[in-house]
Amino acid sequence: MYLKGENISFGYKKDNLILKDVDIALESGEVLGLMGDSGSGKSTLCKILSGYVPNYQGTISIDGKKISSKGYNPVQLIFQHPEKAVNPKWKMKDILNEGYLVPQTILDSFGIKKSWLNRWPNELSGGELQRFALARALSPKTKFLIADEITTMVDAITQAQIWDIVLDIVEKLNIGVLVVSHDKTLINKLCYDVISLADINKV
Ligand SMILES: Nc1ncnc2c1ncn2[C@@H]1O[C@H](COP(=O)(O)OP(=O)(O)OP(=O)(O)O)[C@@H](O)[C@H]1O
Ligand SMILES: [Mg+2]
Repeated sequence: MYLKGENISFGYKKDNLILKDVDIALESGEVLGLMGDSGSGKSTLCKILSGYVPNYQGTISIDGKKISSKGYNPVQLIFQHPEKAVNPKWKMKDILNEGYLVPQTILDSFGIKKSWLNRWPNELSGGELQRFALARALSPKTKFLIADEITTMVDAITQAQIWDIVLDIVEKLNIGVLVVSHDKTLINKLCYDVISLADINKV
């Protein structure tokens, strides 16, 4: 299975393109790195690939088919700041199970404690919250994971722990992952292949 973005062009303002004719492809089971300067449009591309930006030009498809905007999106985005991705008025257990009933095995893998389930999002650390974001995104319906600087808020040991868990689950589910990071060492450790946004962006 292939997720493809073809001829993707986008600007937040008219006459100011951030992305121009970007082509990118991600295969099931692949762990692909994406690097680029700050402000170059990596997060913008991530949002476009996962359906958060409606008014881009070009096509996003899985095996040649456009992704429906209705129902569960098989392309799941994990943000750098998980607090931006959760409803602050919902308890963690509701946030967790919004898309599917997350199995206990996944909660155990991520070290999500039972007592955290009754908390509000602002009662967890960034790293703890990110574990919830990952657990709920790794549903059996997910085919691709777009990981936009997902472990920047944690220390090196926690970063390695979280990535170990994610890689283990994505391998089992044959999910393709786009790893966006400034951290060359991390990207080299996780990814078979790395692309630079500047090389694929004709802006
Ligand atoms: N909602 C928005 N409205 C207007 N401009 C935006 C918006 N979001 C981002 N931008 C601008 O678009 C450009 C690309 O931003 P983006 O967040 O995609 O970069 P990035 O490569 O992810 O950067 P970083 O490495 O710092 O996360 C930047 O110049 C940014 O200021
Ligand atoms: Mg970014």
